[in-house]
Amino acid sequence: MNLYCTRNITDAISWVGGSDRRLALFENLFPIPRGVSYNSYLIVDEKTALLDTVDSSITRQFLENVYHVLAGRPLDYLIVNHMEPDHCANIEELMLRFPQMKVVGNAKTINFINQFYDLDLEGRTVVVKEGDTLSLGAHTLQFFFAPMVHWPEVMVTYEQKEKILFSADAFGSFGALNGNVFNDEIDFDRDWLSDARRYYTNIVGKYGPQVQAALKKLSALEIQTICPLHGPIWRSNLGYLLEKYSKWSTYEPEDKTVAIFYASMYGDTENAANILACMLAEAGVKNIAVYDVSNTHVSTLIAETFRCSHIVLAAPTYNMGIYPTMQNFLHDMKALNVQNRTVAILENGSWAPVGGKLMREALGEMKNMEILAPSVTVKSAVKSENLETLAALKDALVESLNK
Ligand code: FEO
Repeated sequence: MNLYCTRNITDAISWVGGSDRRLALFENLFPIPRGVSYNSYLIVDEKTALLDTVDSSITRQFLENVYHVLAGRPLDYLIVNHMEPDHCANIEELMLRFPQMKVVGNAKTINFINQFYDLDLEGRTVVVKEGDTLSLGAHTLQFFFAPMVHWPEVMVTYEQKEKILFSADAFGSFGALNGNVFNDEIDFDRDWLSDARRYYTNIVGKYGPQVQAALKKLSALEIQTICPLHGPIWRSNLGYLLEKYSKWSTYEPEDKTVAIFYASMYGDTENAANILACMLAEAGVKNIAVYDVSNTHVSTLIAETFRCSHIVLAAPTYNMGIYPTMQNFLHDMKALNVQNRTVAILENGSWAPVGGKLMREALGEMKNMEILAPSVTVKSAVKSENLETLAALKDALVESLNK
């Protein structure tokens, strides 16, 4: 084994993960055109400890990295912070290769290992509780539970000497790591923020209160570096990242602006959406976003809903219901706990428009969604009589934005 691709975080701690640029859909759901990284970390002290494994797609690279950093030493501990298969797929392989290795997890972790795999764990586990520590020599690991960030067994591990938080899925992002694994080696705002937001909002967006509980618990620790299981390692500017997480987990918008989400069969609802966008721009609203919900993956729509303070939903009635792609978007909004937004409704219908009423009902099932008056109804195509209502809706949006 002489091929490796690792980075030193400190003298004793290395990144030994890798990236998959072939996978089209993360969780077989979310498009990842920029790929995804699976991060794993190895501490070499009097004892050696690996923090999580990686997805089976990058096993070869991962094993080469681990062997390189171990440099002939055995692996003493595998810490399993998260039992989702994109991180735990190599537990059996490591147990076979390192017969003395102990698997460290909590009671739920061990339960999940038994559910996913058929492994003989007899004498091979260390079961930890909240706040327990494990000494590796100069380094000491401390374990804190973070249930539902993203699964119930999730824990994070704090290394006391170097003040590093191994944060599991928290603070992660879609996107392959291109050699630059540290946040100060990349332009995060330009190249990563939208994927980090899409990752957070779609993977753990539903669990804002649990993320808040974890953030509160971790605020007692002095943290210098955050090592997540996906995306860049944070060793500077942690306040920026924590502020994003604080907003996302409390469903507070990042930007005071309007995102218009439209569904359109023949371009007429799209036309209404574009007219409203231009009216808003003329009124001074900046950074307006417009999305065709049939042509944009719902994970992007969700991320933009978390980002923007005001949203407009525009859709035709279809089979006496909500147009299917808009219906799917509304379903995901509810599933991911979207709340605290100001919403405007624009419906289209040629003979029995009911989409507006149904969209309002769907929004009524979410928390604290303020629906602005007036709702706009277009009959087939935008006519001059619609312009007055569109202008009134623009006024309502502008007034609300300026509050
Ligand atoms: Fe990246 Fe919840 O696993």
